[in-house]
Amino acid sequence: MASTAVGIDIGGTGIKGALVDVDTGELLTDRIKKDTPEGGEPDAIVEVVTGLVAELGPESGAPVGICFPAVVLHGTTMSAANVSKKWIGLGAEKLFEKALGRDIYFVNDADAAGFAEVRYGAAKGHEGMVLLTTLGTGIGSAIIYNGVLVPNTELGHIEIDGKDAERRAAFSAKERHDLSWKEWAERLQVYYATLEKLFSPDLFIVGGGVSKHHEHFLPLIDVRAPMVPAELRNNAGILGAAALAAGSPVQVSEIRTPREEA
Ligand code: BGC
Repeated sequence: MASTAVGIDIGGTGIKGALVDVDTGELLTDRIKKDTPEGGEPDAIVEVVTGLVAELGPESGAPVGICFPAVVLHGTTMSAANVSKKWIGLGAEKLFEKALGRDIYFVNDADAAGFAEVRYGAAKGHEGMVLLTTLGTGIGSAIIYNGVLVPNTELGHIEIDGKDAERRAAFSAKERHDLSWKEWAERLQVYYATLEKLFSPDLFIVGGGVSKHHEHFLPLIDVRAPMVPAELRNNAGILGAAALAAGSPVQVSEIRTPREEA
């Protein structure tokens, strides 16, 4: 397993990257951030990512992990909620590999963030089912059960009262409708109560940029499971993508399964 890898986090507004020490979860370079090209078209995004990787200058064999805000099925992007619709059905992993001239690990952004929180952050060593959501332009989700990621859960798009959940409850909805923390928390309450009813997680982690202001809204949400803010903030996607690229399943051994406990 490699101990250094590049992590790239592609979002609707920014594309971030860094070189990561995957053993410790520390960044070995500054985090570099570029704007996502207007419209989020495939060729333009691939070009920015290629430039970013070149700037980070990893060793030729260093693994590269890229996370992206869409369903990623065997390297193909199957959705595009906040980027160009041209990504739908596109062989994205191959496209990046061709441009970069190397293999990559390609994964959904929230899945990468959730994986990183379990490996290095708020759920380090946590047993049972961890459900991470990221509150940003959309709502991303990741389910990690005893250290194993169940990919592509897309729980931001569950329908509640006939509406797509992320349209009502993402951080962008707070901004769009100028909601107070209390008004937004009322929407989040409905959302998280629904998730809890459907999935009964052992731990909720709430991520996304707004999680640094967690004291304004997390205490207003009433669910049975503990709910904690993400710890890795804006680095979670980078760290998770890098760790997965480096072949991280090793981390599962840190987490005891119920059978081992018995
Ligand atoms: C997308 C997800 C993504 C999330 C956060 C949603 O709109 O459907 O794939 O993880 O936004 O970026």
